[in-house]
Parts: sequence; structure tokens; C-alpha cells
Amino acid sequence: MRKTSLLLSLAVIAAWIPVRAQSSSDRPIYLDENRPIEERVENALSLLTLEEKVALLHAQSKFSSAGVPRLGIPELWMSDGPHGIRAEVLWNEWAEAHWTNDACTGFPALTCLAATWNPQIAHLFGRSIGEEARYREKDVLLGPGVNIYRTPLNGRNFEYMGEDPYLSSTMVVPYVQGVQENGVAACVKHFVLNNQETRRGSINVVVSKRALHEIYLPAFKAAVTQGHVWSIMGSYNRYLGTHCSHNDVLLNQILKKDWGFDGAVISDWSAVHDTMEAANNGLDLEMGTVVPRGESYDSYFLAKPYLEALESGKARMEDLNDKARRVLTLIFRTAMNRNKPWGSFVSEAHSRAARSIGEEGIVLLQNKDDILPLDPARIRTIAVVGENATRSMTVGGGSSSLKVKYEISPLQGLKDKLGDRVEIRYAQGYSHDEKKTEDLVAPAVEIARGADVVLYFGGLSKDRYQDSEGSDRKEYGLPFGQDALIDALVSVNPKVVVVLISGNAVEMPWVDRVPGIVQAWYLGSEAGNAITEVLTGAVNPSGRLPFTFPKKLSDSPAHSVGEYPGDDENVHYNEGILVGYRWFDTKQIDPLFPFGYGLSYTTFEFGRVSADRSTIRGSQTIRLSVPVKNTGSRAGAEVVQLYISDLDASVERPAKELKGFQKVQLEPGQEKVVTFEIGPDALKYYDEASDGWKADPGRFRALIGASSRDIRQSMEFTLE
Ligand code: BGC
Repeated sequence: MRKTSLLLSLAVIAAWIPVRAQSSSDRPIYLDENRPIEERVENALSLLTLEEKVALLHAQSKFSSAGVPRLGIPELWMSDGPHGIRAEVLWNEWAEAHWTNDACTGFPALTCLAATWNPQIAHLFGRSIGEEARYREKDVLLGPGVNIYRTPLNGRNFEYMGEDPYLSSTMVVPYVQGVQENGVAACVKHFVLNNQETRRGSINVVVSKRALHEIYLPAFKAAVTQGHVWSIMGSYNRYLGTHCSHNDVLLNQILKKDWGFDGAVISDWSAVHDTMEAANNGLDLEMGTVVPRGESYDSYFLAKPYLEALESGKARMEDLNDKARRVLTLIFRTAMNRNKPWGSFVSEAHSRAARSIGEEGIVLLQNKDDILPLDPARIRTIAVVGENATRSMTVGGGSSSLKVKYEISPLQGLKDKLGDRVEIRYAQGYSHDEKKTEDLVAPAVEIARGADVVLYFGGLSKDRYQDSEGSDRKEYGLPFGQDALIDALVSVNPKVVVVLISGNAVEMPWVDRVPGIVQAWYLGSEAGNAITEVLTGAVNPSGRLPFTFPKKLSDSPAHSVGEYPGDDENVHYNEGILVGYRWFDTKQIDPLFPFGYGLSYTTFEFGRVSADRSTIRGSQTIRLSVPVKNTGSRAGAEVVQLYISDLDASVERPAKELKGFQKVQLEPGQEKVVTFEIGPDALKYYDEASDGWKADPGRFRALIGASSRDIRQSMEFTLE
């Protein structure tokens, strides 16, 4: 009996083994998930026809590109953008498809993320938006954007991470990692020098190699070499006369050769202009090219014209294989990955994430006579004035425009939290139609007159010529008569708090007359809740400015020694490496509010800095320690910033450069020691003569403080 059952089982196993063995060996290598991705991609590539390879390299719809249907290799689906998953559009058009299941969570815009100065929050952002992308079955998220803030007029600054290469590099890496944990590729954009929208499709940026490497490239480099980003988007503008979406120096030499990028270069939408440039200069996937009515995607530069160039021998087969290999790798990492998580969409967790990013990014700029936080016990009436208290800020702005499941406006947030205890009255005060503003001022002044506090919600909007893609701002000042309106409000009630909703710095002629100023960015679905928590003190503000606010536009380097917007052909970045605070601090021009600045409802004291050595030899590092104490009566967070200045440089160097920061959370009375490691890399500049990074031996000074203009501790050390 026992013997029979043993024989039977053996027979069953014997019959099963060949079947399993056969099915595993019959399965083509590219489908075998136990093998390394490189091997699978190589195998897939070897099975493709010329036409199939070319078909991988261009769009098949507004936001997708083809896979290889014959082999079951899936299509790639892409979506904007950096702060929410865009609504579905029609196959061939920008127009919305009006699906009913695509309303997303609106996350804060990236300026707000940068203002948190908190890499863990950047990871939470990336992971959460990646989950939304995954749920919506997107393979590539078209973001984040890390173009450097060069001028406050740039319409797209709100989509980026500020003026400093170290801050944006530190924040972009965890964002990318968070997105890609979902089996969704991040697509870091716009590579590179897309620092203005005016003439963005043609303008040739003339910039020194040194500024390119020290200022404009580092965040992209960090995304590639530390974040291991799977795709990157070429920009619209030109560099060295060639469009950046097919630029040999940028794509072949710097990105692919020097940085070892193994992902795919995707063009910006209709940023491709020439088949042979696209073929030779490192572009992998062409998107968004406008095809004349009646023509199909076959007329893309990397479609039929490319096929013909390959067949006639004009274009090289090895370039084709390299492109197809990179696009296949992107597909295998995303669409074809069976082990990726499922994602989630408009979840409570995402609302919480959006809210905490917003709460951490809001910057308290001014707080005279402790006008904030509002004390509901002592306030009976609040006058809320301004269009931005009610206007949707998730809609508009260009490609990052969102269809959100919900959006809490500032007025709603205040009513929800305080409405049962406090009388809240609202007046619009100004309008985009300036003729209407005349009629709107009087009612606003009227409600302001008797109120215990006036909360003014103004700033910019996502309309054309404001914070919006495709056009720059026309003026540095607030639009729509807001300055006069603020003056009128202050003249009847000095207790005014100005809450600015914008992604850019603005001129503030009323700065000395208004006790409270809050920079509240574009905060997405949870905007009103996050702002209310900060205004009422439930959240102690801990955001710090990721860019300088100049007093006037002509103080800004691009508008002083630099050029903006350039002529019909070129824009010269004459300010070179002196961008943002590097300019203001070196030239000793007082800003309105400096880089790294932000107030709290508590106070912090820095103790004495100490170091474990005073000389760096070889690859040694110096460890700096500084105690930081919460000396007030509320819990809060300080952002401890480390700047370095080079005292014996052989070349021009900025007065100081950010090389480290840490956000520390402290209970009242609590003290923590913050440490920083400085190695030779933090002391280097880009040497044009040798085309590499170099540090001059000599003395350096480490400056530790609470903004670029608020240095509390410093010490000298030497590099041998
Ligand atoms: C923008 C990109 C965006 C793309 C797709 C372009 O106009 O510059 O940032 O991802 O459109 O919408």
C-alpha cells in the first residue's frame, strides 16, 4: 500500500518535471522575470524588426507610445505632472476626455515642497504621487521639475524647487525614489536651462560652462547619479545653438557618458525639430510633435523619416539600437514589471500627505506684535478679503493643471475650523478684470473696518502672465490693483495679515505697514486646511524660502548684469554663477526676504560650533557640531543651514554657498546637537580650463545660521 502510493507520487513528479522544465525553457528570455533586466532587454531587442524598433521611439497618442504588440511588450503611458495626476485627455488632443474616475489628489506645487527643507517630506510626496500614478496605470510621471529660479518673472517657477543647486539636489533625490518605488518612472524636467517661458521654444541660452555645471546641472545630476531616475525630459530652448531635446553635448556627452544615465531621454512635447539631430544627438523618445491635420504619427521626426534615414544608411544602426534599448528598459522597469505595487488613489493617506507637505512648506515672513497665531478666544470677527481666498488654484498654469477630487479654499478652511465661534465675513476686493476692481474695493474696506483682524488672500494666480506655463509675468509687483487695495485696508484697520498665494516672489511696497505676511504657495486639495492650521497656531510654521525675494526687480541678477528675456535669438546669462543669494550676498544688496528665511511661533538659539579637526588633508572630512535650543514656549522646527565661503580662492567665488542643512524638531526648552560633515567635494568649483571640479588649498569658513543673511556661528578651517 505504502509502496504503491510512493510509486504513484514518483510518477506524478516525473510527469510534472518535463512539463515545468519545458515551459520554463520555452519561455523567451525577455519574459523570464528571474533574469536580470539587461539580459531580458537584450533578448527583446534581438527579436525586433527594424520597423518595430522605430515604432518604440515616438508617440502614438498625446501621452502614450507604442510597445511591441506582436511580442506582448506593453505600451508606455505618461502623465503630467509634478503635483498631481492629470485628467485623461483625448487620444489626439489636449482636450479632456471627461472620464469620471480620474479626479486626483492635488498635492502642493514644488516650490512649497522645496520650502519644507525636509527630504523625508520629499520622499512622502514622491511615494504618494507615485501611488496615484500607479493606480491610474501610468508608467511615467512627467516630473519633477528642477530648473533653477533665475528670475522672478519666470511663469513656471512654481513647478520648480528654487534657486539653489544644493537644496534642489537634496530634495529631488527622495522624490524620485519615492515615485519609482511604485514601478512608475519619474521624468526629471526640463533638461536644461529652461529658465523662462518667453520664447522658450527658440531662445538660445548663452551661459558659462562653470555656471552650467555649478548652478543649472546639479539637481539633474543628483536625480541621475543618486536618485537613479529612469527618464529625463529634454527642454524646449537651445544651448550652443542646438535644441536641448536633441543636443549632443547635453545628452550624449554630459548625461549619458559623464553621468552614466541608463534611462530614456523623452523630448518635451513638440520640442523636436530635426530627424538627423534627433537621431544623432541622444534623444530616445519623441513626444508631442504637432502633425498637420490628416497626417499620422508616421510623420514624426523619429518615425518614417528616421526609418528612411536608417534604410539609406544616413542614420546609424547603433544609435537606433541604443534608443530602442533605452525605451525597452523603461518599459521593462515600469509597464512590464509584474512585481510593482497596486498604488492607491485619492486616499485619506494622500490627503494627509498633501496637508502635511503644505503645513511644512508655508513660510511666515513677518509677524509684528505677534499678530499671529490668531487667538480665537480673543477674536470675534475676521474680515477675509481677496480673490485668492476662494479661487481654485489647482486649475490653470498649463500642463500641471489638475482635475482634483476636492479643493479646500482658504475661506472654506477658516470657516470649517472657526466658523462656529467667530464671525467670518468675505469680500473679493479685486478682480482679474481690473475695471471691476473699482467696485470691489469699497465693500472690502467696509468689512475690514470693524473686524478684529483682516486676512488678505492675494498674490498671483494660474492665469496667463501669472504663475503659468507658456508666458512669463509682465511685472514684479502684484497685479489687479492689489497694492492699492492693501493700502486701503491698512488705512482703516492696521491688523492686516497678507497671505500670498504664489509660486514667485512679488514686490511689497506695503511691507512696513502690514504686521503679518505669510507665503502660502499653491497647496493643492488641502490648501485651506493647511493655511488655517498655520494661521491659528495648530501648526507652528517651519517653511524657509527656497529663493530670494528681491526688493525690486532690478536688484535681481538676471535683470541687473544679466539679460532677460534676451533678444530674438539669444539670452546671455552674464551673471554667471551669481544666481539668487549668491548674487545678493556677494554684492551686498539687501533683499526683501533672504534665501533660507522663515519665522516660527517659537524662538531658537544656536550654541557654539565645534569641530573635530581644523585641517582637511586628502579625502578627510571635518565634522561640525552645533547645539540648537528651542527657547520659546511652543514646539517647533528650525532649519539649521551650513554655508561655506572660500577665503583664498584663485577664482571668483560667491560670498557663501549652501552645503548642508537639517530640519530639527524641538519641544520647548529642548536642545539637540546638529552635525555636518564637510569633505573636499563641498569646497570645489567647476574649473573650465580642465573641465572638472577643483578645490584650491587654503582657508575656508563654515557659516551656520537660520538663513543666508542670519549667520549665528562660524569657524575657519584649512584645506591642504
Ligand atoms: C511641458 C511639459 C509637460 C508636457 C506634457 C509641455 O508643454 O513643458 O512640462 O510635461 O507639455 O504635457
